Amino acid sequence: MKTYLVTGGAGFIGSNYIHYLLGKYKDVNVVNLDKLTYAGNLDNLKQVENDPRYKFVKGDICDEKLVNELMADADVVVNFAAESHVDRSIGSPDDFIKTDNFGAFTLLEAARRTHIDRFVQISTDEVYGSIDNGSFVETDPLMPSSPYSASKTGADRIAFSYFVTYGVPVLITRCSNNYGPFHYPEKLIPLFVTNAIEDKDMPIYGDGLNVRDWIYVEDHCDGIDFVLRNGELGEVYNIGGGNEKTNLEITDYVLKKLDKPDSLKIFVKDRPGHDRRYAIDCSRLKKMGWKPNYDFEAAMDKTIQWYVENVEWWKKIKSGEYMEYYKNQYNK
Ligand code: NAD
Ligand code: DAU
Repeated sequence: MKTYLVTGGAGFIGSNYIHYLLGKYKDVNVVNLDKLTYAGNLDNLKQVENDPRYKFVKGDICDEKLVNELMADADVVVNFAAESHVDRSIGSPDDFIKTDNFGAFTLLEAARRTHIDRFVQISTDEVYGSIDNGSFVETDPLMPSSPYSASKTGADRIAFSYFVTYGVPVLITRCSNNYGPFHYPEKLIPLFVTNAIEDKDMPIYGDGLNVRDWIYVEDHCDGIDFVLRNGELGEVYNIGGGNEKTNLEITDYVLKKLDKPDSLKIFVKDRPGHDRRYAIDCSRLKKMGWKPNYDFEAAMDKTIQWYVENVEWWKKIKSGEYMEYYKNQYNK
């Protein structure tokens, strides 16, 4: 019976990963360490909260004492915990540097003082920066351009250094843009889907022609699991969906699916330092035998339907603190 220490497991991808793990494997224990920031939500884990294999611990990955205690019983660490929203990192970068860098460092320090089998650092395709043509391979230089992606790059390389210097069994994944259930409605797809359901404006930054590669969250979870079991220690693995879309294409897709008028689209001031296009080359994982399962349109339809059926989940979020944040946003 392996014990997984999943950090940031109450967020979007972390909670999907916990569902994935407990659903796929009978013989796992999962300890979810999460600070429950604005992005952490225990409603995401209601279906597993009484599962005897699951335990939630409220706490900070920067808390050395707590991290040391939890690490002592862990076989595998998967570090999702991070401040994850680019716009927030532009407004106030402090927590990004603290959690994404010092938090990763605290976990790695604890890992080097005990025995663990694997430490997976969940990095991002944003560490490469923007690319107009072609796509990035794992060995390309890193050129992050927002405080978010720079702090994620720091964590990515700190993790690598702990493999090289101390032999911590590190694996690093760099994934593209996820979509799916439990996605906090400040990010493009859940914000636009929920706004459209409510007949509210969809604020498109700049000309709407920025490109992202979209992957269904369950495919990301499956990719992480594959890397954990088959990856070479110290190595980096790109995980992409192979679905490059402009933000306008995404917006039009949502409008059409929900049968809403074009007039909901509004063009607003661009995000400062807005990366034009992200694109990663995933042939490394493909050669090893892994590829995403979901078709883009089928998974988008499933996602949109989830938001239609789970209005209570997102309405609860889109009130109080969330509204305060949006009132103070620089470009909304
Ligand atoms: P999220 O913002 O939805 O969730 C982050 C979680 O981390 C929350 O539950 C939050 O409470 C927790 N957290 C924050 N600070 C913490 C701290 N100091 N200690 C403990 N817990 C803390 O983020 P997400 O979209 O689920 O992303 C998860 C990870 O995947 C992040 O590391 C992100 O950089 C990476 N990633 C995300 C995407 C994407 O498209 N969302 C793509 C590639 C990589
Ligand atoms: O590429 C992986 C990254 O994807 C992750 O590492 C990040 O954690 C995750 O937040 C995401 O970053 P993006 O900045 O790409 O995602 P976001 O949903 O914020 O924006 C996607 C695109 O949509 C981007 O070009 C900005 C644009 N956008 C976003 C919002 C919220 C808009 O035009 N309007 C909006 O209101």
